[in-house]
Amino acid sequence: MSILLKQIAVAMALAHLTISNIAVAKKIYEKQAPPRELSLEQAATAAANYQKYCVLCHGENREGHKNDHAPSLRAKSLFESGVPHSILRPISYGREGTAMGGYLDEMGGPMTLDEVWDLTYWLFWQSSAQRIKLSENPVQGDIIRGEQVYQENCASCHGKNGEGVNAPALGNQSALAHNKDEFIRYAIENGRQDTPMVAFDEKLSAADIDNVTAFIRSKASGWKAEKVMLSAMPNPDQYILNPENDDPVFTLDQGMYVSSKDLYQAILDKKKMVLLDTRVASVWQRAHIEGAIPFPYYTELEGHLKDLPKDVQIVGYCSCPRAATEYVVKQLRELGYSKTAVLYEGIFGWMNFGYPVMRAEGIVDNEQESPQH
Ligand code: HEC
Ligand code: HEC
Repeated sequence: MSILLKQIAVAMALAHLTISNIAVAKKIYEKQAPPRELSLEQAATAAANYQKYCVLCHGENREGHKNDHAPSLRAKSLFESGVPHSILRPISYGREGTAMGGYLDEMGGPMTLDEVWDLTYWLFWQSSAQRIKLSENPVQGDIIRGEQVYQENCASCHGKNGEGVNAPALGNQSALAHNKDEFIRYAIENGRQDTPMVAFDEKLSAADIDNVTAFIRSKASGWKAEKVMLSAMPNPDQYILNPENDDPVFTLDQGMYVSSKDLYQAILDKKKMVLLDTRVASVWQRAHIEGAIPFPYYTELEGHLKDLPKDVQIVGYCSCPRAATEYVVKQLRELGYSKTAVLYEGIFGWMNFGYPVMRAEGIVDNEQESPQH
């Protein structure tokens, strides 16, 4: 062999070495068998439930980011790593303090546990991902270094304190309880396809991915599935607040929006109004503006209009921060309900101003693990 050829051979061997080194640095995961398949009927119900309950925020095609930075529900990496608890539990219990409410009937939501399971698996099958096996073990890392990595690379979207700016709240206690370390690590390493969450496997060292995972984990302070004693639904004769009094006079921004300040003043002045809580009913059960009636965005209007007066000022609110209410109010206006308005800042804005909400009665802690299939 000529010297030149030898050099080329050596160079090729070296190149091969570095390539395989990278492959070794990237974690290799074992595959896992897929979960049970759905019957045609179960799949049809799950698809219909998705359309009815989830499209508003997660989008027609599960693409996410339709409202309030609801994540993609078709990203491959989520379903590779996320079935079932990282999917089932947010759907069942929601993520407290975010626009994601709980849909399980025992929480006051509209779906049975079987339906939530079927929807979870339906989402998995739609994603055509292949499940991998993630370790249950904690990811070890240097928390102080992890915080540095976090503030430099993650805080702009996930918030300085993990509160979520235009991305999921990584510091959320229910998310931390449901997502294993390896699930979090896998999301950082691989990103979420077709979303602003890029893969960090080429931007951060494997050690720094561990460090930032350990830092996120260090924010967990515990979470319990609460057992909720469901409050009774208000009767139609309780819908109108202060029926004897005057109407409020609101100046609606863009003909649609009332500010928290104006609504609070109208409440203090005991004006005649109907307040609609348009979130999934489970979150009304937890806390709502006093006197508000649950009127979730998925309410089928036909059966409910007879109890809703046309001549009384109606104000709706939600947490996303307006999308669910706009959706309801637009339909009501088409049906001739002209005295309708949307709370501009949503209920989280309202609470941030320090305006009061009623905590639902009867919430008791439940030490039990949630049921599994
Ligand atoms: C440009 C904005 C942006 C940056 C920067 C960013 N993320 Fe994300 N991240 C997102 C978005 C948006 C999502 C939700 C993606 C989706 O739709 O599924 C996400 C999702 C995640 C998830 C999955 C959460 C879940 O519950 O499924 C984790 C974990 C995460 N990011 C961690 C990080 C970490 C750690 C960093 C820094 C190293 C980081 N992200 C940087 C925008 C960002
Ligand atoms: C009002 C808006 C809204 C509706 C309606 C909604 N979601 Fe969400 N969802 C969100 C938001 C916002 C988040 C992210 C919360 C966070 O962690 O900051 C989320 C998170 C999730 C997650 C966690 C995903 C992840 O990457 O960790 C799942 C799973 C989910 N939603 C499923 C559903 C399903 C299924 C439905 C319908 C039954 C639904 N959601 C209805 C807003 C919504």
